Amino acid sequence: MHRDNVWDVIKSMKLDNESEAHRIFRDTRYQAPKVAISRGVNMDEETIPGIVRPEGTGVEYSFERAMANGFRYDRSSEWSNLGQGAPEVGPIPHAPARPTSIPVPMDSLSNYAPIAGVKALREAVARLYNVTYRKGMQSQYSFENVYVVPGGRVGLSRVASVIGDVSCARQVPDCDAYDQVLNAFTCRQDPTVLKPEWKYRLDIEQLKEELQSRSDKVIIASNPRNPTGQVIQGEELKELVDLSRECSTTLILDEIYSWYIYPDDESEFGRSISSAEFIQDVDEDPIIIIDGLTKNWRLPGWRVCWVVGPKNLITALSQSGSNLDGGTNHPFQLAAIPLLDPEHVAYEKVALQKHFKEKRDHTLRRLRDLGLEVAIPPSSTFYIWLDLSKLPPPLNNGLTFFEELLKEKTIVVPGIFFDADPSHHRNLFDSPCHNFVRISFGVPMEELDKGLDAIGRILTKAVEEGMGAFGHSYRKPMGGLTNAEVWWDMQR
Ligand SMILES: Cc1ncc(COP(=O)(O)O)c(C=O)c1O
Repeated sequence: MHRDNVWDVIKSMKLDNESEAHRIFRDTRYQAPKVAISRGVNMDEETIPGIVRPEGTGVEYSFERAMANGFRYDRSSEWSNLGQGAPEVGPIPHAPARPTSIPVPMDSLSNYAPIAGVKALREAVARLYNVTYRKGMQSQYSFENVYVVPGGRVGLSRVASVIGDVSCARQVPDCDAYDQVLNAFTCRQDPTVLKPEWKYRLDIEQLKEELQSRSDKVIIASNPRNPTGQVIQGEELKELVDLSRECSTTLILDEIYSWYIYPDDESEFGRSISSAEFIQDVDEDPIIIIDGLTKNWRLPGWRVCWVVGPKNLITALSQSGSNLDGGTNHPFQLAAIPLLDPEHVAYEKVALQKHFKEKRDHTLRRLRDLGLEVAIPPSSTFYIWLDLSKLPPPLNNGLTFFEELLKEKTIVVPGIFFDADPSHHRNLFDSPCHNFVRISFGVPMEELDKGLDAIGRILTKAVEEGMGAFGHSYRKPMGGLTNAEVWWDMQR
């Protein structure tokens, strides 16, 4: 088709099958119904009889598309990875030295750790919460309120494994892993769409109304929120905790970004947030907290996280865990104990907040200079929920903007992956996340700048060549690499 004719089609697009970027997404195996594959229908998949393949996550799709465009971890230096959910792990100014080795006592080498975690680590977690959030309160956490898990997602899936046959309220957008985790344990999901006027946060009044009119027994939310970078704190967080107590509704709060908050007032550096501050009775209030070393300590590879909640919950998790897995890596649990010392934590937090605040402000400034003002800037996490709706089509849709950035060797995550079950949307253009991408400023500054330069190049091209230059000529989905190879490459 002639380029002008292509542009005529693109500018009037209303349905996802008119968009090349969306057709590629629809055509990949992410869209295939789960049951069809177990019969060996897709010969590229290493499926065997009776084994169904779960759908890929949005982040996985983003990396697979990046690889179709030439990205490889072993030659990634030309690329900017603003899609990554991990924070930079190297040294940052004024932070304690990074751990470079761990002791491996013989006992830890050969013996399982207890299912719920090493007692000394559970005690260290409880102490940290008590010292940070519960000073002077009568009800204090003990090791019996802590369950150690090999990563935040395992924490979520372990909790999902003990959710009964009730519907689970969640919001859109939220962490892309929730969909899979809840579906894997066949939890019924009931999503609420977060509005810009609520700053893409849980609106407590709205939640109150919903809890009165629906039968939700469980609410799950990230706070601070991935991908919008908004946080509920102070009086509002107290109200949320009170609501959960009063309505007898269990609140699962994923607080994995609890240190990534950026106060305007310098004297507040070092403050973090947790619902633990507002819990009255640690064994009665139905609040489940998930956190760990992944983001706050910048140690995603250690796979040491925890679930904090009432003792009865921890017992249920232990019973589930002893059936499903054998618990968390023993030597790394021991190595984590000194990192939870409150004095050590205080240093880490201040250094992290100053460094990431600088990167956030830098990113916002550069986006503003490019004409991409962020109307609701992040007050937490290391993500920017970038609204593209003011750009002309097709750059105003997240999946096309993402494909165009891949041509410029930059990865972001299209907004639709933070919608609940995006692959089953009848028309992806109707998704509330359609006009967004998530940009991570988790990477070091130099890489961040490289990605922002790439965004600048696209906008310059739009001015110089017009919008007909976009929305087409995307690389075909990768045929050669198997799922396992993509994963192997992604994990490095
Ligand atoms: C809100 C949220 N929870 C949990 C996780 C996953 O943590 P982990 O890598 O420890 O499984 C992420 C990772 O991006 C996240 O954004």
